[in-house]
Amino acid sequence: MTPLIEYRGIARRFTTRRGTVTACENVDLTVNEGEFLAIVGPSGCGKSTLLNMAAGLLQPSAGGVFYRGAPVPEPNTLVGYMTQRDTLLPWRSVEDNVAIALELRGQDRPTRLRTAHDWLHRVGLKGFETAFPAQLSGGMRRRVSMARTLAYEPETILMDEPFGALDAQLRLVMHDELLKLWAATKTTMVFVTHDLTEAITLADRVAVFSARPGRIRAIETVDLPRPRDVFRIRFDPHFGELHDKLWGYLEESVRDGVMVG
Ligand SMILES: Nc1ncnc2c1ncn2[C@@H]1O[C@H](COP(=O)(O)OP(=O)(O)OP(=O)(O)O)[C@@H](O)[C@H]1O
Ligand SMILES: [Mg+2]
Repeated sequence: MTPLIEYRGIARRFTTRRGTVTACENVDLTVNEGEFLAIVGPSGCGKSTLLNMAAGLLQPSAGGVFYRGAPVPEPNTLVGYMTQRDTLLPWRSVEDNVAIALELRGQDRPTRLRTAHDWLHRVGLKGFETAFPAQLSGGMRRRVSMARTLAYEPETILMDEPFGALDAQLRLVMHDELLKLWAATKTTMVFVTHDLTEAITLADRVAVFSARPGRIRAIETVDLPRPRDVFRIRFDPHFGELHDKLWGYLEESVRDGVMVG
């Protein structure tokens, strides 16, 4: 296994007028090349902060973040990042939002629109190519963001709560698409979610974080065979065992979070 992203002894503090907040501390975590790692933890425990560091958008206050053994470049153009907040450009049509990275790569318009349309169809947005972001629902906007990240074909994809705005059925369809894509491309995935079922369905390993300051409470290997049937896998007895075990860690984290406020 080749380490791709390494967090070594990471802490990150933020100082504002209200004082200093430690988002995360003592985080040692390695993401291996080609693996699908899910991160779960209570709100405010530093999950987005960790992704921002891997994307080269934020520096740690202590420790180091490495990509292929070297300090993460700023920004890290080898990763595609589907951020938690919507970053679609409102003045660009859906197709031109999806094609943006290909445009920066110098592809001509017909070529990049072909790729954009292909991804938009895969995420179920056929017919909305020329719509503008303001004309879409929240879930549709998330799918445009996903198509944009995938169209870029990065070697590593960071996803922050990508499917939170989707209904349960559409989520499963997107899980299926994502796993097929991942199997076909060997992309390394770091996937943040609040949903333990989603994490176990998708990931090779699930890292559970404590409440703020976020630390790793447990890392569990999901030894369920692949390819996985995203519609049925939750009924597998072993899935239930993994869920119970991880739920135990997550519950402790959430209860601690409530206690500290
Ligand atoms: N730019 C910033 N300035 C000040 N504080 C910040 C900044 N970014 C994050 N924080 C603080 O760091 C902590 C962790 O934030 P982060 O967004 O990483 O949490 P999270 O685990 O992604 O939460 P959620 O699940 O709600 O998205 C929070 O207390 C937040 O207020
Ligand atoms: Mg977040």
